[in-house]
Parts: sequence; structure tokens; C-alpha cells
Amino acid sequence: MQFVEANGAKIPAIGLGTWELRGRTCARLVEQALKLGYRHIDTAQVYENEREVGEGLRASGVRRDDVFVTTKIWTTHFAPNDLERSTRESLAKLHLSQVDLLLLHWPNPRVPLQETLGALAQVRKLGMARHIGVSNFTVALIDEAVAACPEPLVCDQVEYHPYLDQTKVKEACARHGMAVIAYSPVAMGRIKNDQTLARVGQVYGKTAAQVSLRWLVQQNVAAIPRTSRIERLSENINIFDFALSDDEMRLISRMGSAKGRLTDFGFAPKWD
Ligand SMILES: NC(=O)c1ccc[n+]([C@@H]2O[C@H](COP(=O)([O-])OP(=O)(O)OC[C@H]3O[C@@H](n4cnc5c(N)ncnc54)[C@H](OP(=O)(O)O)[C@@H]3O)[C@@H](O)[C@H]2O)c1
Repeated sequence: MQFVEANGAKIPAIGLGTWELRGRTCARLVEQALKLGYRHIDTAQVYENEREVGEGLRASGVRRDDVFVTTKIWTTHFAPNDLERSTRESLAKLHLSQVDLLLLHWPNPRVPLQETLGALAQVRKLGMARHIGVSNFTVALIDEAVAACPEPLVCDQVEYHPYLDQTKVKEACARHGMAVIAYSPVAMGRIKNDQTLARVGQVYGKTAAQVSLRWLVQQNVAAIPRTSRIERLSENINIFDFALSDDEMRLISRMGSAKGRLTDFGFAPKWD
């Protein structure tokens, strides 16, 4: 396993995404992933599976200290008292005394960023999170958040795959010593049918999905692919035994555009 280092955090470069994994399936996938060598699990309050993620962690037998666990605070809990209370609730569901990374899930224009970040930093000071960060923040919001936060932010978790150009967010994160964590890193499954990536993969005996994940990791970006299929857990982590050439990296980077976003979360508050 490789790591992405950022403002004191050491983030395993591949993690398991758990959005939409529920109940026993979720617990079983988390357990199997950890048994196969995953050391990074991504959940969120809004996924309603923190309890099952905790069950999978315990069932795996992997030492707590060896796993990097992320959860995210939903936007309705951004007022300072709510943030602390809801973090305690997440920890109780996960059966953990601390998460490794606690993120603000989306920007919420209805609560002043300074207040929310103050509360997030306080939760870190209280020991409930080893590291803190943001998700779905634009460049302007990253700059604002870093300026307002009394503790270091270690990442922005954003949609990132070969169809979406994230150069600006990557540059902003690099400026602040923050990591980019790529969600939807196999473009919600669409990468599987990509002819260009499949052709690149043939040279190394790898699938298009593995090429996509390798392309991310080779940029020092962490990626959190989700799968509900045990057999794909191995596929998505077996990306550390080959390297893409500079030409291949450039070829894949040219596939992305600013309009390549796949996720449109209608429920997420808009920054207006
Ligand atoms: N911060 C945020 O706002 C945010 C937003 C979205 C997601 N996330 C996080 O990021 C994680 C990943 O993103 P995502 O779930 O949107 O998308 P993703 O990981 O890009 O794609 C998941 C989909 O791709 C399929 N898949 C996975 N591995 C594959 C492979 N090797 N070959 C072919 N198909 C494959 C899965 O199907 P099968 O189940 O059939 O394998 C699933 O339908 C989420 O689970 C969540 O933890 C965060």
C-alpha cells in the first residue's frame, strides 16, 4: 500500500467507498476488504451505514490502529453544537473513540464557514478526529476554509476520474499542503467500457478500472472505489505492481474536461 501524505496525515492511497452499501452487504464487504489488504474505509453520516462499517472493522480482526477510517458530517449538522453532537453519534455507531479523518461533506452556505470550521477544529482538539478536512469544496472555498480554520485541513474529497479535469482543485490543495481524495474514481462504473483505458491496460495485463485508479494514485491522489462485489475488491487494489508511462499519463489526462462531472446530487445545498 502506498500513502498520500498531507499536513501530517498518512492516507492509504486506495480505500473502500461505501456509499449505497447497506446492512450485511456493507459489513461483509468492509470485512473482506480489510482481509484483502485495504487499510482505508470511507463512510458518511448520510450513507446510513456507519454501524455496519464498524461491524466489518471488528469482524476483520485487523488492528484498529492499522485502519484509516473516514466519516463525513452532513450539512444539517454544521452549527457548532450540532457538529460536536453528531460526531459523537457517528463515533457511537462506528464503535470507535476516534476517526482518522472527519470531513465536512458539502459546503453549506446557510452556516458561516468560520463557525463550522471552528467547531470541526474543536472536535479534533477533543480527540474525536485525528485529522479534519473538507469535501466538494471549490478553489475559492478551499482558500477561505484554510484561512478560517485554526487547525490544518488535510484534504478536499472531490469527484475525480479521467473524464473530469480537476487541475484547479489539485493546484489549490497542493498550495495548502492538502491531499485530493478522488471519489467516483472509476466514474461510477463507466470506466469499465472505456476503449482507450482498456488498450493501455492490455500492455500491463490490467483492466480499464485499474488503469483509472493507477492514473489517480500516480498523481499522488488517494482514491476510494466502491464495489458491492467481493471479486472486484482485489481488482481495485491490485494497482501497485505497474506504472503508467509519462505518455500514458498525459493521454489519460487529455480525456478530462471541466464538464465531465457525473454526480449531480440534487439534495446537496447549492452555494449561492
Ligand atoms: N464526498 C462525496 O460527496 C462523495 C460523493 C460520492 C461518492 N463518495 C465516496 O466515494 C466512493 C466511490 O464513489 P462512487 O461510489 O460514486 O463511484 P465509483 O467507485 O466510481 O463507482 C462505483 C460503481 O462502479 C462499479 N465498479 C467498481 N469497481 C469496478 C470495477 N473494477 N470494474 C467495473 N465496475 C466497477 C460498482 O459496481 P459493483 O458494485 O457492481 O462492483 C459501482 O456501481 C463512494 O462509495 C463514497 O464512499 C463521496
